[in-house]
Amino acid sequence: MSRTVFVNGEYVAEEQAHISVFDRGFLFADAVYEVTAVLNRKLVDFTQHMERLDRSLSELAMAQPVSTDELRAIHHELIARNDVDEGLIYLQISRGAADRDFAFPDEDTEPTLVLFTQVRAVADTPAARTGIRVITVPDKRWGRRDIKTVQLLYPSLAKMEAKRAGADDAWMVDEQGITEGTSNNAYIVLADGRIITRQLSHDILPGITRRSVLRCVNDMQLTLEERAFSLDEARSATEAFFTSATGFVMPVVEIDGHTIGHGKPGPITNRLREIYIQDARDNAE
Ligand code: PDD
Repeated sequence: MSRTVFVNGEYVAEEQAHISVFDRGFLFADAVYEVTAVLNRKLVDFTQHMERLDRSLSELAMAQPVSTDELRAIHHELIARNDVDEGLIYLQISRGAADRDFAFPDEDTEPTLVLFTQVRAVADTPAARTGIRVITVPDKRWGRRDIKTVQLLYPSLAKMEAKRAGADDAWMVDEQGITEGTSNNAYIVLADGRIITRQLSHDILPGITRRSVLRCVNDMQLTLEERAFSLDEARSATEAFFTSATGFVMPVVEIDGHTIGHGKPGPITNRLREIYIQDARDNAE
């Protein structure tokens, strides 16, 4: 059945939706995005996603076409029109359409605003029960990974390399160690229970799920270290996991063919997933 999507102020059937071939999102990846999970027809961590959207826009001197309240209403309307009980909503804003030129257009262009839904299980998935396998690849992305832009070609290539290697995802590595996954933040748990994840900087995306999960870590009185960790340290970990809007807290049971812990989702990871999802359900709007 055809979905209803939102394009520049209108709700239209996906077959009827179109944007300009001159759109700078299409030509230059001059666009930012957010992905928000839907649980029980409600939005998870919505306000925080919209705060990050505002920051991404302002870092790129891009206009915000509608207010957060309007965006909330559009999200809810799409949930209703597409009967989304569980899944995600994708939102993208580009600088708009203009003659192709590396410089931003002189006159203010109308930003392009697109939203669509994807129905899928997010809370109870086979991957969360068994854990996933990752490979590592060099982090070859640009230097402002803290801005959520649609320049996703390198992460997409890394994901394909993982699939070719029989794994599920790739974690990227720079001179200091593991930065993050292709579309998630990376964590390890050491034998003494310490949880390690890369500190925030221009090198990684400040994950919204990361922020909420770190609050759970604090509530559970677990020890957290926000710092770089090497591949060797990751291989010696007893548990590993990633966080993202659609994966929540996802166990990682193998890194580069090396089994982590007992090759099954670990107890700390499982507990964090459970608590985060409960929290997400309780606070969804
Ligand atoms: N990706 N790091 C990167 C590079 C990401 O693309 C994402 C999210 C995250 C996790 O952020 P959050 O917890 O706010 O989802 C970290 C989304 C889900 C995607 O591209 O589909």
